[in-house]
Amino acid sequence: MSYEMLSTSETDRDSPPLPLPLRQGHHRRTQLWNVGTFVLVGIVAVFAGMTHADSSRLWDSLHAERERIDNLRADQLVQEAKLSVAAGGGTAGGAGGSSMLRTVVGGRSFAPQYYGQGTCSSADFLASIAKITVNPDGSSRNLPTDNTYELADFDYSFDLPAGCPKPHVFTSAEACDLVDAFGGIFLRGDSLMRHITNALFMTLRNRRDGAVQQDQDVCFGDRMFDDQKDCRKIALYDSQDKTLFAEPVCSNKTWLYFEQTPCPVEPSAYVPKFLDWRSQLPTNKSSLSTVVIQSFGLHCHMLTSIPIFGVFKPLLTHAASAFPRPFLLWLGLSAPGSNKPVEYLKTQGANQITKYNEEIRAILPTLQGESETPAQGSMAIMETYGMTDGAKSFDGTHYMWQVNMEKAHLILNYLDLLWGETRALGGLWNLTELCPPGKFSYQCSQQ
Ligand SMILES: *[C@@H]1O[C@H](CO)[C@@H](O)[C@H](O)[C@H]1NC(C)=O
Ligand SMILES: *[C@@H]1O[C@H](CO)[C@@H](O)[C@H](O)[C@H]1NC(C)=O
Ligand SMILES: *[C@@H]1O[C@H](CO)[C@@H](O)[C@H](O)[C@H]1NC(C)=O
Repeated sequence: MSYEMLSTSETDRDSPPLPLPLRQGHHRRTQLWNVGTFVLVGIVAVFAGMTHADSSRLWDSLHAERERIDNLRADQLVQEAKLSVAAGGGTAGGAGGSSMLRTVVGGRSFAPQYYGQGTCSSADFLASIAKITVNPDGSSRNLPTDNTYELADFDYSFDLPAGCPKPHVFTSAEACDLVDAFGGIFLRGDSLMRHITNALFMTLRNRRDGAVQQDQDVCFGDRMFDDQKDCRKIALYDSQDKTLFAEPVCSNKTWLYFEQTPCPVEPSAYVPKFLDWRSQLPTNKSSLSTVVIQSFGLHCHMLTSIPIFGVFKPLLTHAASAFPRPFLLWLGLSAPGSNKPVEYLKTQGANQITKYNEEIRAILPTLQGESETPAQGSMAIMETYGMTDGAKSFDGTHYMWQVNMEKAHLILNYLDLLWGETRALGGLWNLTELCPPGKFSYQCSQQ
């Protein structure tokens, strides 16, 4: 299926249409000209018997009047267009109709780690990530080993192109503080998304074996990810997992949840399942925007109709009126490893994955207004193809410690940018002033 076919069978979205009031204004202006010309020609006809000097004076004043009318209309049109952009400016799902900011973030103890370090916005950051190429000596190119990496060993295998500074490497304390400023993180997808969840848990818990329920002295480094030790069977999916109660994740201040869904074939269940999780958040968490991150493809026959109906439509419809509005992120598919088994190459080879990623990139803007930024709640895409192209995979599909730590840290840097941008737009809900930590205040005692 080509995107061209899809776009023309819907409405022609290749060149974005003018905002409606502007088009109407343009139309009205043409009409006004016609009426004006008709009136002017009539006047000229009445004064047909005038002297040459008189008639040229008349022409001059008529001309001036026409220009005045024209300029007046132009000013009004500009005004009208400004108002329409302010009031209507692209709402997700096409519903609603207010530019009022509905994303909300909470206070942080640490200053932003990446936001404000350069002029890189969240949109620039994602555009830059899409262009990553792995450095020739990047660690992700290393063969899988039984190596047992420590968290402190982590560094990126690439530099960010296009003017974005090097992404920050978050310590556990910084990552907890950051994630605590959101309602929580809800991740959904297949084994590749599970691996990102693993890396997030390791970072937040500051444990090399932080991705599993109990320390088995096995599940860290590449061994956590290569599936040879069955670490996935004891992997953590939920920051509220009872096995963690002796050592709550981030002192029980952050909420992280992974729902393993290889392919979302039930569009009507997509939002309710997310809301079920959300309804369990304590009130001081549910007052903040949550982050919803997902990726599907390999288990869905690479059909773009699955994310369109199974993910985008339900989520964008929900987000069009939700308060607080969630931050929405789609992760593009990673590159296939050079050792992809031959039987899968035809359906999951580089061409198929690139085509799928391109189609999603083309489709998503047609389902939501393009005038909103990710910090305002529009669904963004973080591509992972470039950062995995050339990285070593153990089975042709999955990557190990290095790549998954990179993905997790890129997500944290992205959240750091979203936090800064949302605050800059006036979206900071800071309860610390009313409810200082460690001090009793009856207003906050229920939280
Ligand atoms: C939240 O409010 C407290 C108390 O006024 C202040 O110290 C803190 O800097 C604020 N946090 C942010 C992120 O602005
Ligand atoms: C963490 O917080 C939640 C909600 O406030 C609570 O239900 C749960 O018991 C807490 N867990 C621990 C380990 O304190
Ligand atoms: C939220 O409420 C929990 C208790 O349920 C409390 O431990 C935590 O400090 C609160 N967080 C903030 C940011 O106020």
